[in-house]
Amino acid sequence: MSNAIQPYNRALDGGLILKSITEPADAERIAAFNGHIFGDMVAGMTRSLIHHHPASRPEYWLFVEDEATGQVVSSLALIEWTWRYEDVTLKSGEMGIVGTLDSYRNRGLIRQQVARHHELLRRDGFDLSHIQGIPYFYRQFGYEYAMPLEAGWQIELRDLPDSTSDEPAVYQVRRATCDDVPMLMRLYDEANAALDIRTVRDEATWRYLLQHTAGTEMEAETWLLLDANQHIVGYWRVALHGFGTGLIVSETSRLRPDACETLLRWLKAAAIEREKPYIRFNLPVSNDLLRAARYRGARDAGTYTWQMHIVDAASLLRKLAPVLERRVAASPFAGLTKTLVINLYREAVELRFEGGKLSQVQGVGFREWGDINLPPLLLAPLVLGYRSREELEHMYPDVGMRGEAKFLADVLFARLDAFLFTIY
Ligand SMILES: CC(C)(COP(=O)(O)OP(=O)(O)OC[C@H]1O[C@@H](n2cnc3c(N)ncnc32)[C@H](O)[C@@H]1OP(=O)(O)O)[C@@H](O)C(=O)NCCC(=O)NCCS
Repeated sequence: MSNAIQPYNRALDGGLILKSITEPADAERIAAFNGHIFGDMVAGMTRSLIHHHPASRPEYWLFVEDEATGQVVSSLALIEWTWRYEDVTLKSGEMGIVGTLDSYRNRGLIRQQVARHHELLRRDGFDLSHIQGIPYFYRQFGYEYAMPLEAGWQIELRDLPDSTSDEPAVYQVRRATCDDVPMLMRLYDEANAALDIRTVRDEATWRYLLQHTAGTEMEAETWLLLDANQHIVGYWRVALHGFGTGLIVSETSRLRPDACETLLRWLKAAAIEREKPYIRFNLPVSNDLLRAARYRGARDAGTYTWQMHIVDAASLLRKLAPVLERRVAASPFAGLTKTLVINLYREAVELRFEGGKLSQVQGVGFREWGDINLPPLLLAPLVLGYRSREELEHMYPDVGMRGEAKFLADVLFARLDAFLFTIY
């Protein structure tokens, strides 16, 4: 945790104060509060994140205190992630561990902390904010469903090969340690290269994952696959907690088909030993192990979705200029010269293309009509490639565009393969 503390302190109505972590004891008070709302493992996760996560900052941990009792009555956190959208690096602030004591609910305490959270996002140059939230609630604060979360691919154990094969073992397995971090980083980057939107994990984050998730809600085992020469050829992670009663595979490197067979056998044996009735693959569809499992009968039991908030539409589109220019160049619009107005009804953004280059992107305030018209919350699913222009038009009569603008919207905003592997 960084030492540069700039504490926040604002009086609210009714003898309440909205604060950020000011003194070391506040960390434990927030952890105990989160434990009370969500259980012990979330208390452990809060402690680990505050004390050990490389991206954690005291001022990103908000809470409301009742002055009369000194009790923490509501809290939420901002957790900083770095993502890559094709070749563009983006910063997203997760809104995490959101809770209010029963007797203080429906008094706007989360609403007021969200306002501070959004101030921090703007102040610190975040592009996006995401939350793995309860249904609907976060729409009130500008969030919309826009990226796959918790993939639900499942396979029954009877569909998997047994490990009691007569064939000699080609691969061996062992748990990863911090000494393996350079190799894990390489394998992770290689596997993620196939995704259009992905999480960036630096060395410090890898160390956090290996050293500081024990006893937390996010505890996971990291296993390595070794060839006959003891060279690491792959890895996978098993999450110890999560939705459902199955054994959860939460991440893998690229894996050759024979390595997938070995791993599927290992997973079956592990599931039997741990009394898990099935295996769940929390993995993107492009993942090698999931592909192998699908050939053996894995089926999709449905996913949940990250809810996303765009901090500033013009600034995000400006950052994505290299991507948008590439899409235009690869289309019949190559060399485009045009001012395109994306009207988000409460505000509009002008994109000036000159000879295929995006020379200017600026917010232009209220406009009655533009080339592409979208309710403000729908920009996130469109830009993040979660829903196509056609799907949005089909669902919402106030998504409007005509003729050539439709074609250009399809070129600029392609469907994407996005998946976020965790940073904690
Ligand atoms: C969900 C929860 C965090 C809301 O906290 P809160 O302090 O009551 O929230 P607020 O009062 O700031 O709510 C903002 C608005 O949403 C409304 N609201 C409260 N809970 C809601 C819910 N579950 N669904 C929809 N609206 C809700 C409030 O009435 C308020 O409306 P208003 O601004 O029009 O008056 C709280 O009920 C809680 O801790 N629940 C258990 C833990 C949990 O589910 N956390 C969320 C994990 S993502």
